[in-house]
Amino acid sequence: MFTIKSYRRWLRASIVIIYLIIIAGAVVRMTGSGMGCPDWPKCFGYWIPPTEETELEFSPDTHYKKGMVIIINEELRVAREDFFTGNTYQEIDWKPYIKHDYSVFNKFHTWTEYINRLIGALGGLVVLFTAVVSLQFWRSRKKLTILTVVALLAMLIQAVIGKIVVDTLLSPVLITIHMIVALLIVGLLIYLLHEVLPVDSRYYNKGNLSRWMLIIIAMTFIQVAMGTQVRQYIDHQVDLFGYPLSSAWLENGPLIFLIHRSYSILLVLVHIAVSYIAIKKYKHPKRSYFSLNALILITILSGVLMNYVDFPLGSQAAHLVTASLILGLQFYLWMRLRTAARLSVAATS
Ligand code: HEM
Repeated sequence: MFTIKSYRRWLRASIVIIYLIIIAGAVVRMTGSGMGCPDWPKCFGYWIPPTEETELEFSPDTHYKKGMVIIINEELRVAREDFFTGNTYQEIDWKPYIKHDYSVFNKFHTWTEYINRLIGALGGLVVLFTAVVSLQFWRSRKKLTILTVVALLAMLIQAVIGKIVVDTLLSPVLITIHMIVALLIVGLLIYLLHEVLPVDSRYYNKGNLSRWMLIIIAMTFIQVAMGTQVRQYIDHQVDLFGYPLSSAWLENGPLIFLIHRSYSILLVLVHIAVSYIAIKKYKHPKRSYFSLNALILITILSGVLMNYVDFPLGSQAAHLVTASLILGLQFYLWMRLRTAARLSVAATS
């Protein structure tokens, strides 16, 4: 029923949507909208959240469903059961929302977080459909089906982590775990895409370049790990100084930030060296290497902007998104190089 071509298309769509989820997550963080929906999976107890604060005020003679939320005396109250209100507010019908005391309604934050969740749900559906398509290959290529189902399960785990992130009031460590799982899912999908693409002989090499690409990936992982520590530090600074005082966030930056910053020079040098050899010696397609180096430069530029221009709007999001694109592209290139190298060895032996 489904062809390998349509499976490839769905894999590509899954990869694109996961990057969109990463972008949406970055926008949520950049705008401080993480608590725009205090509950999960619903938002203020609704599948489609309110657009006006008045919708969260107590309303007489109204039918409330169990779980619906109102704000009363600057506190959240949750409907105990489905019921009709009388003329006045009755404490007995409501229970306090005890997970946290967040009780502000900000239309912009709520809808930013809500759209983020919608994109997440859409991503889940796209990966679900990809898994359905992969069932077609159960007999011929079991690995494809198993790994696509693993990607789907990882998406579900990601949704659960997303809930815990909200429940823990955006715990910095959990945000990091959330990001790492997203990167693993992208990696898995890119691997599957590579598996169903023909070997690209343009990436011919003697095996040395694929080894170097693996070293580059490991080096970038170290940089990303340091970056997440810097982000956790910034999260604490935001708690301490608040959003408007971004100029104070990196004053007396920690050692890990200084290493993260300087280590980029090493990354740039290794990337330039490997790209030079690939293009000059092996005549590899320039586009992929240029894109990789451009992404490195944009990441560094956004880092410099955060550091010296006090986190201008979009710089945090750009930094995260380009860093995750770098890892995706490196991983893809590594697999292309690896299979082309095997082909080259087979051809000469
Ligand atoms: C290729 C080089 C680089 C890579 C791959 C990289 C990667 C990352 C990553 C993955 C994060 C975590 C983002 C998040 O979890 O939201 C991060 C955070 C950060 N990086 Fe870098 N980075 C690089 C270079 C730089 C440079 C050169 C600077 C400064 C001059 C810098 C400054 C920062 C800052 C300030 C944060 C915290 C961002 C935040 O709070 O949202 N980075 N980096």
